[in-house]
Amino acid sequence: MTPDEFRRLGHRLVDWIADYRENIASHPVMAQVAPGEVRSRLPADPPERPESMEAVLADLDRIVMPGITHWQSPRFFGYFPANAPLAGVLGDLVSTGLGVVGLSWQSGPAVTEVEEVTTDWVRRMVGLSGAWSGVIQDTASTSTLVALVCARERATGYGMARGGLQAEPKPLAVYACAHSHSSVDKAALLAGFGREAIRLVPFDQAYAMRADALEAMVREDEARGLRPCAVVATTGTTATTALDPVGAIAEVARRRGLWLHVDAAMAGSAMILPECRWMWDGIEGADSLVLNGHKWLGVPFDCSLYFVRDPEHLVRVMSTNPSFLQSAVDGQVKNLRDWGIPLGRRFRALKLWFAIREQGVEALRERLRRDMRNARWLAEQAEAAPGWRVLAPVPLQTVCLRHEPPGLGGEALDRHTLGWAERVNRSGAAYLTPAALDGRWMVRVSVGAEATERADVAALWGVMLEAAEVESRGPRSIG
Ligand SMILES: Cc1ncc(COP(=O)(O)O)c(C=O)c1O
Repeated sequence: MTPDEFRRLGHRLVDWIADYRENIASHPVMAQVAPGEVRSRLPADPPERPESMEAVLADLDRIVMPGITHWQSPRFFGYFPANAPLAGVLGDLVSTGLGVVGLSWQSGPAVTEVEEVTTDWVRRMVGLSGAWSGVIQDTASTSTLVALVCARERATGYGMARGGLQAEPKPLAVYACAHSHSSVDKAALLAGFGREAIRLVPFDQAYAMRADALEAMVREDEARGLRPCAVVATTGTTATTALDPVGAIAEVARRRGLWLHVDAAMAGSAMILPECRWMWDGIEGADSLVLNGHKWLGVPFDCSLYFVRDPEHLVRVMSTNPSFLQSAVDGQVKNLRDWGIPLGRRFRALKLWFAIREQGVEALRERLRRDMRNARWLAEQAEAAPGWRVLAPVPLQTVCLRHEPPGLGGEALDRHTLGWAERVNRSGAAYLTPAALDGRWMVRVSVGAEATERADVAALWGVMLEAAEVESRGPRSIG
């Protein structure tokens, strides 16, 4: 493709994206395709000869678009908000257009330095002290893996340079709550701790980790020959946005010599609101934390901000220094390949930079406050409606609820819950995700798409009432 052709097609595609966003509310929110449907419309073999871009763009509309669930829709209430403001989309376009790969500072000085500055902007935005240093990882899953590897290496005195975990005299243990995200479990497994050394700490009625139980478990484990190594606290759990008591956990971590990693992947965005910072009170006592820019904050996926208090330790654990990557300025610069797992790094900071500059922090704060008001409004409707129950506190923007018709319990209630949620999703009018809580299905309404206003939440509530009512009359079978 020549630059001239790119210019012509690029303008067209920018129009295409703008039209898509302008008309996004007209799409059924959940993709209406069956499994395999998109694949069946694509040829098995790649084209031997060039195809016209006209044909490719036509297939984008004809084949790909029906298979899209519309996360940017104002009626998207599933999983978590993954806002992709258009300014961030442009930042990503520039990043790809430049085609620069951050292998080292010298391979693209601006890649490193814009990242240094923008991660520091985010540090200031969320009220962290200057003792923290930030770097962008792809996802929270990676950030947490990096954290647990760093914890392991601190506990073992850089055992990886010797026999690794296999040479440790005592098994190392990691602590988290049953409500922590599955990525914590995965990171602990991948970091080599082993299933038996992943210890689940009891939680309280608000689904938050109990710091007293953590301390008791750690002591017990020490007595039976384990080596407690790290604890992962969550600020804003996935199911209910529960808030583990970071300060009390930090105290236990300090007393027992544990690495404290805080997973604030979702709720970290809310720390740009001074009135929310109590939610991670004590954060300065943590060793590392992750906050996903690509969730509620509004940086197009992927952009996970990982902050550490001891960057030298991080670099010592993650660094490699092959000769072809060395440069004369290495002593004066950061080589961000040494701050994470991959060697090559995308210029992710550009979309963060574009998004923050285009909106300004004040507007970001107002958007988050709007979403929290909307979530509280929905919780109030459900609390006041007969048969509906709000199942967990609503500190942020996620409402966990259930419709409990009289006389329905156990598996019949589960079928009812899954049934009405599926009716909502299949209707295309809105999208939400069921999840298990205390062994029973419930529905999470995650408010916070950039385009979602009160009218959209009110419309969702109407759709939910109707779906639950219809489901009460004649349940459909859930496959
Ligand atoms: C609390 C929490 N931690 C971690 C994750 C995983 O995020 P990522 O997809 O960036 O790995 C999520 C995503 O939903 C989350 O809610």
